[in-house]
Parts: sequence; structure tokens; C-alpha cells
Amino acid sequence: MRVEPYRAPLRGGRHCVVRQSSRDDAAALLDLERAIVRARHGIVKHEDELPADADTYAEQRERAGLTARDGSAMCLAAELPGGHLVGEATLLRRFKFRMLRHVGILGLGVHPEAQGLGVGRALMERLLGLAATHRDPDGGRVRRVELYVRADNARAIALYRSFGFVHEGTRRDVVRGDGGAFVDDLIMGLLLSDDAPAAGR
Ligand SMILES: CC(C)(COP(=O)(O)OP(=O)(O)OC[C@H]1O[C@@H](n2cnc3c(N)ncnc32)[C@H](O)[C@@H]1OP(=O)(O)O)[C@@H](O)C(=O)NCCC(=O)NCCS
Repeated sequence: MRVEPYRAPLRGGRHCVVRQSSRDDAAALLDLERAIVRARHGIVKHEDELPADADTYAEQRERAGLTARDGSAMCLAAELPGGHLVGEATLLRRFKFRMLRHVGILGLGVHPEAQGLGVGRALMERLLGLAATHRDPDGGRVRRVELYVRADNARAIALYRSFGFVHEGTRRDVVRGDGGAFVDDLIMGLLLSDDAPAAGR
């Protein structure tokens, strides 16, 4: 699938460009993930668990299916003017069985220095719009979007709720937090209707 770049307004009269990410973005995406992991909020990894270099990161993403162009992965990057990549949203239709092909798993991250500007909302709007309108050659489509979010990540939960995501379940003690205490995460889900793209707010 091909996604046209889109200029999205941000707070304070700023804007970003939301576009499809590609293998060429591996170094910038690795820098982005490093910055998010270092900020220690909303994450489930340690910095030393990230790949050491961009090539390894690109291979890891490819193995995960994130570079597929057949509609089984939708990966969007947000850039501020000047080309600084500050956010990514992904939707991965991880299950290959036809009975589960309509399920997409959503991931989202914004650079700590660019949070609060509206980048996360812009990425979500574009990604859910794409998911709602994409059709496979056989007519298949994304019908269910699901995600997992740490129960202590109020900002992300508020964002997801504003798009209509519903808290469907809790995975108790699934994350070992930095202080050693275990943290729950929430399973949240959104059903995309047959006709209308997701609106947000
Ligand atoms: C969660 C995250 C993606 C949000 O992205 P963002 O660009 O900072 O968010 P936005 O500026 O688009 O704000 C979107 C919404 O988030 C919520 N939000 C933003 N700042 C908030 C704050 N300080 N407190 C509570 N909610 C807040 C609001 O609901 C806001 O809605 P609004 O647009 O109506 O004001 C970003 O903070 C992030 O990447 N965090 C670290 C990684 C992470 O948590 N990823 C998600 C894992 S499931």
C-alpha cells in the first residue's frame, strides 16, 4: 500500500508531516525509540535491550512484519519542519489466519521533547483513517484495532479513549516496573464500523 504524506496541524500554529515510514528511517526510528525508552514513561523495555545499530533494528522490524507493503502493516512517521522524525504509529495485522486477519495491533510513540504538541493525536487520526479505509485485494479489512497500555500511562489512556477505544481487560502484573514493583496493563480495543473512518475526540 502507498500512503500520501499529510500535513497535520499541531498546537501553537505548528504543523508536522505524517508519512509512511520505510527502511531508510531505521536510524531515525532507533534514535526515537532510544529517547522514549530513556524517558522511562509508558515503556516496557530497557535501553540495553534495543538493537545496537540501525541495520539490526531494520532487520528486527522486517522480521516483525513492519515493512510489509501488502496492507498487513501500516507504519506512519511524523516529522517536524526540518525533517526531524519525532513520532511513529504502527498497525500490525500480526495474525495470518483468515479468521483473525481483521485484527490490527497498534503501537505509538512520540519523542519526549515533542510530546504534548498534538503529534500523537495526528498520528492516531491518520492511522485509524487508513485502517478504516484500506481494503485488501480480496475485500478484507481491519475491523478490530487492539493495543496494550500500562495502567500507569494516563496520558496514553486518555488519548486512546478519546478515539473510542474501550478498556476490555487487564493483564495483571505484566510489567516489572523500574522500581521492581509489578504494573498492570490494559487491553483496549476499537471496532471500526463498516462505513465511517474513525473521527477522534
Ligand atoms: C502517549 C503519547 C503517544 C501521546 O503523544 P503526544 O504527542 O504527547 O500526545 P498529544 O499531544 O497528541 O495529546 C493527545 C492527548 O493525550 C492526552 N494528554 C496529553 N498530555 C497529557 C497530560 N499531560 N496528561 C494527561 N493527558 C494528556 C490528552 O488526552 C490529549 O488530548 P487533547 O489532544 O484533547 O489535548 C506520548 O506521550 C508518548 O509517546 N509517550 C511515551 C510512550 C508511550 O506511552 N506510548 C504509548 C504506549 S501504549
